[in-house]
Amino acid sequence: MLQNKTTDLDIVRPVVDMLRVHAPGRVNLIGDHTDYTGGLVFPMAVDRGITIDYRVGGSLIALESTAEPGAVVVPLPFDSDPSTVSPQWASYVAAMAAELGTTQGIIGTVASEIPSGAGLSSSAALECALGLALGFDGPPLDLALAARRAEHAATGVPTGIMDQLCIASATEGHATLIDCHTLDVVQVPVPTDLDIVVEFVAHRTLVGSAYTDRVAECARAEAVLGPLRSASITVVERHRAELDDVAFRRARHVVTENERVRDFADALGRGDYPSAGRLMTASHESLRSDFNTSTSAIDRAVERCVTSPGVFGARMTGGGFGGCIVAICEPGALDSGWSVRPSAGAHRVRVLSDGG
Ligand code: GLA
Repeated sequence: MLQNKTTDLDIVRPVVDMLRVHAPGRVNLIGDHTDYTGGLVFPMAVDRGITIDYRVGGSLIALESTAEPGAVVVPLPFDSDPSTVSPQWASYVAAMAAELGTTQGIIGTVASEIPSGAGLSSSAALECALGLALGFDGPPLDLALAARRAEHAATGVPTGIMDQLCIASATEGHATLIDCHTLDVVQVPVPTDLDIVVEFVAHRTLVGSAYTDRVAECARAEAVLGPLRSASITVVERHRAELDDVAFRRARHVVTENERVRDFADALGRGDYPSAGRLMTASHESLRSDFNTSTSAIDRAVERCVTSPGVFGARMTGGGFGGCIVAICEPGALDSGWSVRPSAGAHRVRVLSDGG
């Protein structure tokens, strides 16, 4: 911790109250690769996240991380290209400062309980937590939109709004059913007699992955079919001959996935866990075969889960190409991975007493 050792940051540490913000990571229960065509997603903020303890003052953002070596120092106002800042997590810091037009500095420590590269949205959590630490004071949707613009500026990857909007707007005990076209968020209670288990299979990054190709392939399908968010499988099948095979399969995934999200929310609401689980497993199969975002290690992990007693369903979660799987099961049915609970979105925690 900063308080317990002398670091380079100590020379600029202002003598003001210590503050704290927290933003959760998220796991997507169902609805992947649907957000950037304005479709439906159903993510849940989890009880692991990013906490920043900081003091306000000066004209620098100066942060240490409990997970990464070295300190990040961003001079304010920041008006250069954030993607050129290193290490990589500093580019999110610089991008958020540029996005918010921040001029007042902070100095502090970032503590993360989310491994980076797990597909649990550590970067969106960092952006949202940082936004609050830098004084953002608007509605969750505006925080999410600012954070998403920062993500694009930092990485160049044209990601959707799911991660930031879930993390900015979640309420404890609920998952967030999001319409990524209207940006409406419905808070759906998550049953307490259901275990949600996340298993980290393989490190990955969306930078340099085929994520950007998937966005382009969906746009190619939309040039023929119109918006995928309002297309049906019948429409996709009818236009099959006008689409190349890749665009056809991408479109088939998106329109069936939107339908699965609706059905999953209904099944969860009825307490029909077997149906909800089957929809998750069908989602995985569609992502594997039509969207090609799974890997053999992820497929094996899903297969192991769905053949275990007491497991209702499992799937890859998030952008794919590695990362995590998520399963729903009877309490205690899986002893691998982390059992996660639905948690509150990004928030200011409390003023800590100033030990220094
Ligand atoms: C990543 C992106 C999201 C979404 C998912 C796939 O997490 O950040 O916007 O596209 O992949 O569903």
